Amino acid sequence: MSVIDTEPRFQAVEAPGKGHRFGSIILEPLIPTTMLEREPEAQMLEVVQKKHVSHAGPLVATSPLPEEGRQKEPVFEAIRQRRSVGQLTPEEPTRAQIERMLEAATYAPSHHVTEPWQFFVLMGTVREEMGRILAASLRLRLPDSTSEKAQIQLLKERNKPLRAPVIITVAMRMRDMQGLLIENIEAAGAAVQNMLLAAQEMGLATLWRTGDAAYDPFVKCWLGMTPEDHIVGFIYVGYPKVERKMRVPTHHSIKTTWL
Ligand SMILES: Cc1cc2nc3c(=O)[nH]c(=O)nc-3n(C[C@H](O)[C@H](O)[C@H](O)COP(=O)(O)O)c2cc1C
Repeated sequence: MSVIDTEPRFQAVEAPGKGHRFGSIILEPLIPTTMLEREPEAQMLEVVQKKHVSHAGPLVATSPLPEEGRQKEPVFEAIRQRRSVGQLTPEEPTRAQIERMLEAATYAPSHHVTEPWQFFVLMGTVREEMGRILAASLRLRLPDSTSEKAQIQLLKERNKPLRAPVIITVAMRMRDMQGLLIENIEAAGAAVQNMLLAAQEMGLATLWRTGDAAYDPFVKCWLGMTPEDHIVGFIYVGYPKVERKMRVPTHHSIKTTWL
């Protein structure tokens, strides 16, 4: 018999279909009924109340550390200040800066150290070639590529790689794949984030793009990969043309259950 059955206090406040309410506290997503069955009620309530107290308070997006403390946290600051920037100047980052981003990527964790990533650095006229590949591929997908609308789409597609002076494509080759695919994708995602943060620290701006081109077999073949391989992202890199605004993410307490 469950605690809910034996303890009237629970029954009195139960909201059908909404879990078991105690004031504003909803238990259902935090404590499965199986746990309620195992634990004495008083003990459970104490645990629940403690959990809720621990993330009570105003929802603030900034670190509670004082300013001076924050300055000693360059990684945290880079994390907070990084934004996707679509508008970049034509100025090319230096080779040393790009290599630093690549190096940062390689320090990402990967299960069994599979290091599943491959990088393709595209700059200069290669971006125009990539644009032609993107447009040719889009042409094949369009029902009528001769219409005026299609012509505008094709031109836009061809110019896409020119939006950044450097594009670092992060990919994974299936033939080198060891372990679980999902774990390798996770590791490659971590590698990308490392790159973005390293770029941020150097005053560069980035935008992680995917879209149809990332899943396009022609693009993959053009890069020397097979259609089964994966493009994790095209990382557009350059100097920001526009000021980055801080983004206020959903507060972690909304996404977190403390158990
Ligand atoms: C896997 C992945 C793919 C993305 N693809 C695109 C894309 O194709 N185009 C784009 O404008 N942004 C793309 N983004 C960037 C997100 O739109 C961006 O991170 C999000 O809006 C949050 O903004 P912020 O990066 O400035 O914090 C992608 C991000 C991720 C993680």
